[in-house]
Order: sequence, then structure tokens, then C-alpha cells
Amino acid sequence: MPVKQSPSRKARGSKFTSAKKVGSTWSSIWLLALVPVLLAIGAARETLNGINLKLSVNNFNLVRKPAQYHGHGVSGPFFEGWYYKTVLPEAEGSVVFIPGVFMPKPSPEGTVLNDTLQQPHAFVMVLRDPHTVECLYYAYPLSELEATNGVGESPEARTTYSIRIGKSTFHEKGMELDLDASRLVWPSDEDTNEFLAKALRERQILHPELRFDKAGLTQEWERKALSVRGSVKFVDSVRFPTSTLNPTVMGPFSYLPALECYHGVVSLYHKTIGSVRFETAAGAKEHEFDVTGGEGYLEKDHGINFPKSWIWLQTGSFVKETGSSLLLTIADVPLLSDKGILSKIVSSIPVYGPKLVSKFRLSAFIITLHHARTNTTHNFSVYTGSRVQSVNIDAHTNTGSGAPNQEVKVVVYGRPGSDAELIVTAKRPLQVGVPLPGPMFGERNMMGLIVEETITVDVDVLLRVNGEVVFEDTGRIGGLEVVGDMQGLIGTI
Ligand SMILES: *[C@@H]1O[C@H](CO)[C@@H](O)[C@H](O)[C@H]1NC(C)=O
Ligand SMILES: *[C@@H]1O[C@H](CO)[C@@H](O)[C@H](O)[C@H]1NC(C)=O
Ligand SMILES: *[C@@H]1O[C@H](CO)[C@@H](O)[C@H](O)[C@H]1NC(C)=O
Repeated sequence: MPVKQSPSRKARGSKFTSAKKVGSTWSSIWLLALVPVLLAIGAARETLNGINLKLSVNNFNLVRKPAQYHGHGVSGPFFEGWYYKTVLPEAEGSVVFIPGVFMPKPSPEGTVLNDTLQQPHAFVMVLRDPHTVECLYYAYPLSELEATNGVGESPEARTTYSIRIGKSTFHEKGMELDLDASRLVWPSDEDTNEFLAKALRERQILHPELRFDKAGLTQEWERKALSVRGSVKFVDSVRFPTSTLNPTVMGPFSYLPALECYHGVVSLYHKTIGSVRFETAAGAKEHEFDVTGGEGYLEKDHGINFPKSWIWLQTGSFVKETGSSLLLTIADVPLLSDKGILSKIVSSIPVYGPKLVSKFRLSAFIITLHHARTNTTHNFSVYTGSRVQSVNIDAHTNTGSGAPNQEVKVVVYGRPGSDAELIVTAKRPLQVGVPLPGPMFGERNMMGLIVEETITVDVDVLLRVNGEVVFEDTGRIGGLEVVGDMQGLIGTI
């Protein structure tokens, strides 16, 4: 792997500092110029695809309020979900809640939607570790969803929202939980088997030297009928610092009104107070998590489709650097919708068409490290001019027994002239993680198992600026998803 030469301290005087300033002014102008271009691409895409105009209007109106609900007046295809993660005190495990909304694309007249997961609905997913290895999925009709957004332009109003689903409420400062076992929905065996086959296929492609069999890589899923009750309050939330140019963690890309998928960070880090109790359907205590003194993270996604492939990694439970938080995502972003007229015309060109369409994609990355001690949010995202130097996904055999570990290592350089380097290494067992339903708007047009997540990953993080180590620590109980075609994703970075 090529190693970047870092200029010695001596070689850099005040000249370097001023050069850096000029550079940043220029990059700001350059980025400003990018906004109308991005808007034009977005508008053209929208016209050509005719997809979800109302959502694009909401995307534009809420561009400085990414935490809020975008589904008012919107019909499918649409999804939105908030990811509430709480790591237990002493990092003994974690519990994740994902409240959200799914609206399928309209079906032809007379189609019978047999399954709750095919119908428009609100949901709450629950993952936890230890104690269960699968996702609990509670489904509710849209009549039991009530979403309220803060009004006005004050920083408080912009980040205020409340999502009530059934008897549970989720907002930016906490959640009140009352999820009854009677609302649980399980994926079909067919969906589960398809998910497993895909997970194994993707591992085999990544690690051709290893032999995989289903039994060695999957866990016995139990399908426990549990209710969840409790309440969690967030304190001392750290927000992602924003500006007009960077209204969200997506930077100027936030202004594109017709992207497939939007990513937002609500809270980079917060402390939690409260408890979460799991009960059997009869009301007996199965397990109770005391989350007072725990550490939380809150982000969200919304849009008209999930990316085809992505890597997502997050941790906020650092051993030494308490209060710090890392987010790393690399996702495949199509610039032409599969369903759009333009992509149909291009792909109909004999021989070269499909290849040409595949060129209209980019691998966008959002990589931020909030360093609590210095109160600095380092930003290595695509729109800063940063560069992903390498992504390596390797398998390492454990010394001793047990299945090998998968190691995902990403090296990223700051924008030219910044002399910053971030190295992130995440390790997890190769065993298949928790299967999570996600929006599928293709032929299936339902919430189906497409996401595989491990919620107890160790993440080594090293940040060097001007040749000096600024941050070096291990984040525990991180979340990791490696989904889809990694060669395609990494190849186009
Ligand atoms: C509902 O079930 C019927 C009968 O099995 C099937 O023909 C139909 O395609 C199903 N509808 C959907 C939307 O899957
Ligand atoms: C960190 O910096 C932000 C401004 O970027 C400020 O609003 C916040 O109060 C600071 N936090 C602490 C703990 O000093
Ligand atoms: C990246 O994000 C940080 C934190 O919000 C911000 O201070 C910085 O200006 C952003 N960088 C660029 C080049 O937009």
C-alpha cells in the first residue's frame, strides 16, 4: 500500500499556514459553484424520472432540518428511519431501536397485498446484544403514526421532531417505549433463506480462500415473542456542526432534491438515562437493561431506495477518548435512476449501453470523527476534497479456536494540503450478523431482509495531522454493515 510522504515540521512555516487559508477559500468558492450544478442535475433527474415530486419538495424545504420527518403528504416509494443506538454502561452490550415508515411504490390496480411487510406501515425494529441474535420487528398501520416537526428556524426548532408509533414516542432527546408482542411480524422463511444465501455468496466473493458453509456461519434464530417497555432520556447531545454550505453531514449534496437516499446525523454522542425492559408475551420480565450512564448515537436515513451496496461503520464508545464518535459510510450513489427515461435510452444502446449506465454511479463517502477532548469534528467526507486511499477487507484466522475474523480497514487522506490521515480498522467475527428488514422497491416492493449488521465490533482509529498522532483509540460495541457488491463499490472510489 502506498504510504503518503508527510512533510517534516521544519519544512513548514507560516507560509504553509497561509497557503492553507487560500486553499480553503478557493475550495469554498468551488463548492458554492457546485450547488447550482447539483441542483440542475437533481432537477433534470427529477423531470426524467418523474419520481416522488412531493418528497423532493419536502427534501428542499427541510434541507436545514434533516432530523425531521420528510413524509408529510408523500406517497410511496418512500422510507424513513431513525437509528437510536444505546451502548450499555461499561460497554457490556448495546440496544438499538429503529422507528420508521415504509410506503411501497403504487401497485397495479387490483393487486392483493398479502403481507404486512408489503403494505404501507410504520415500524419499530429492536436489536440487542447480548441476549438475542435477531431483530424484533413491530409493525403498525399508518393510522397509528403521528409525526410532528419543530417549526421555525432557530437551531432548537430545526432539530426538534417527535415520532409517535402506536404507544411509543421517539424524539431527539429520548424515547418512551411500549412495544407489544402482539405487533411482532417475522420475515418469511423464503425471505430468510434468500438473505442467508446472499450473505454467504458475498462472503465467498470477499474471501475466496475460505470455505463457507451455512451451518458454520449462521446462528440459530429464536423468534422470541417479546414486548419492550421503558424510557430513555438523552443528555449532553453533541450535534454535527452545520453551516449554509454544509446543512447536513452530506455537505452540499444535501441540496440535491432527488437523491435515492439521504443520510443525517442527529446526535454524534450523548449520555443516556433510563431503562429498557424486555417482557414475555405474558408480562414476565425476560431481561432489563439499565442504561443510566450509557452512551448513545442517533442518525437517520430517508429516501426512495437504499443504495445497492454500502459500508457503514459507527462507534461512540472509546476506551480513552470518552465522548468521541466515529461515522464512516461509503455508499453507491446512482446518478441515473434505474427507472428513469434517460437510463432506459442509454441502456438500450447495443453492447455499450449497460456499461455506460454503470458509469453513472459514484461511491460517495461520509467520514467524520468527533474528537471530544478538543471539541473538533474532523471531516473527511467526499465533498471536502478528501480521498479514500484504500479499503481492504480481509479475513484473519484467530489464534486459538473459533471462526476467523473479518477485518475492514479504510485509509483516508484529508483534502490536498491538509496533511491529515485517518486509519480505521474494524474487526468482527465472520459469522453472519443480525438480518434487518429494509425497503426493497424493486419487484418485491416490500420491507425485506436486505441489511446485515453486527452490533459489537471493535474499531481501531488513528488520526495523524501534520505527522503527529492526534487521536489513537479503540471504539467498542461499534456497528458494522458490509452489504452488496464490494468490488464495484471500492473499485469506483
Ligand atoms: C398474494 O398472494 C397471491 C396468492 O398466493 C399471489 O398470487 C399474489 O401475487 C400475492 N400478492 C403479492 C403482492 O405478492
Ligand atoms: C464545542 O464547539 C461547539 C461549536 O462548534 C460549541 O457550540 C459547543 O458548546 C462546544 N462544546 C463544548 C463542550 O465546549
Ligand atoms: C466538514 O464538516 C465540518 C464539521 O461540520 C465543518 O467544520 C467543515 O467545514 C466541513 N468541511 C468542508 C470542506 O465542508
